Amino acid sequence: MRTIIITGGAGFIGSHVVRLFVNKYPEYQIINLDKLTYAGNLANLKDIEDKPNYRFVKMDICDFDGVYKLMQEEHVDGIIHLAAESHVDRSIKDPFTFAQTNVMGTLSLLQAAKLYWESLPEKWDGKRFYHISTDEVYGALQMTHPEGIEPPFTTKASSGKHHLAYGEKFFTEDLKYQPHSPYSAAKASSDHFVRAFHDTYGMPTVVTNCSNNYGPYQFPEKLIPLFINNIRHRKPLPVYGKGENVRDWLYVVDHARAIDLIFHKGKIGETYNIGGFNEWKNIDIIKVLINTVDRLLGRPEGADMDLITYVTDRAGHDLRYAIDSSKLQRELGWEPSLQFEEGIEKTVRWYLDNQEWMDNVTSGDYQKYYDDMYKNR
Ligand code: NAD
Ligand code: DAU
Repeated sequence: MRTIIITGGAGFIGSHVVRLFVNKYPEYQIINLDKLTYAGNLANLKDIEDKPNYRFVKMDICDFDGVYKLMQEEHVDGIIHLAAESHVDRSIKDPFTFAQTNVMGTLSLLQAAKLYWESLPEKWDGKRFYHISTDEVYGALQMTHPEGIEPPFTTKASSGKHHLAYGEKFFTEDLKYQPHSPYSAAKASSDHFVRAFHDTYGMPTVVTNCSNNYGPYQFPEKLIPLFINNIRHRKPLPVYGKGENVRDWLYVVDHARAIDLIFHKGKIGETYNIGGFNEWKNIDIIKVLINTVDRLLGRPEGADMDLITYVTDRAGHDLRYAIDSSKLQRELGWEPSLQFEEGIEKTVRWYLDNQEWMDNVTSGDYQKYYDDMYKNR
């Protein structure tokens, strides 16, 4: 029996992690601790909300007293921490909220866990604080090749496998942090606090840095769900700059699988990068989305290419992200289960089949779900 708090479980990635743990480990008690900001949507978890090993607690991670009390009452022995402000564009407009939640919120959780676990006779034994972070803390990579070959080119990862890349360098775990946006600066700071709690107090922590996720239940402010919905409704697609920026995409369920593996088998005090060696220029992904939506809706393929609208670039827009996840593949045997073509087809289908979910999010109705379903429980 273990009791685990998963923070941010009503968000995009958190809801997939909660679903995986609740279904896979009926012997664990899973507490989804979430403040339900604009990004939290309990309808993401409709299918598991009545399971006996699941409980939702509406709480702010910055509420130190509340978290500490909850840990004592529930005898919590693990924390998987995903709650964060996660959208770069919002961080450019409102950096304070990002510092508050991502830095102070993480510190509040760490301190609550430290005080509670240190008060137990067994102390750190059997405990774990797992912090979920991002590849954006490493900054941005160039699109270069030593012999001047035009990207993308085939390269060999340190895992020994061949894949397409837009540059010769990758984010590895030992790279210096160089965050550029207020979002990534706040995430970097929270990563440092987690490591500081390990190094100073001996807290059993683990940190992972993952690349861009895609899949069902992502809030439609992010590129993929926003563009799928706009294509469906024939609305303009705002491409930042020239659409040349490169992101490394991973299917969200594969991220959740990695989190499960690392929570159970990852080495204490370690950092693991998570990513699928799957780099794409934004503009190429956007064309795939247009072709896929058009085909699935029975429109002539590519009919909606004229929706592409180049707009002013994001301030400080990182050029390229590319994760080297060979440490995770080598040491823990993790591999992504889906090829990108398969994952993107599944994702587009999901959004088209779940128009009600999308409509509830875009109308704001999803925020009533807590009041309707939970308030009087
Ligand atoms: P999201 O924005 O979809 O969800 C965030 C969740 O956290 C929401 O449910 C929200 O209500 C909750 N939350 C926010 N502030 C809170 C607070 N103060 N107290 C309690 N709950 C709060 O985010 P996501 O995309 O699912 O990302 C989850 C985590 O994974 C984040 O830490 C993010 O930095 C990291 N990450 C995301 C990606 C990605 O591509 N989305 C990639 C790598 C890492
Ligand atoms: O790399 C991991 C990160 O990926 C996570 O830590 C973040 O939480 C997550 O939001 C994501 O950050 P990005 O900024 O890369 O994701 P976003 O979907 O916002 O944008 C993807 C790319 O598409 C980026 O280069 C900006 C561009 N873009 C985005 C939007 C929303 C556009 O061109 N137009 C848009 O309207």
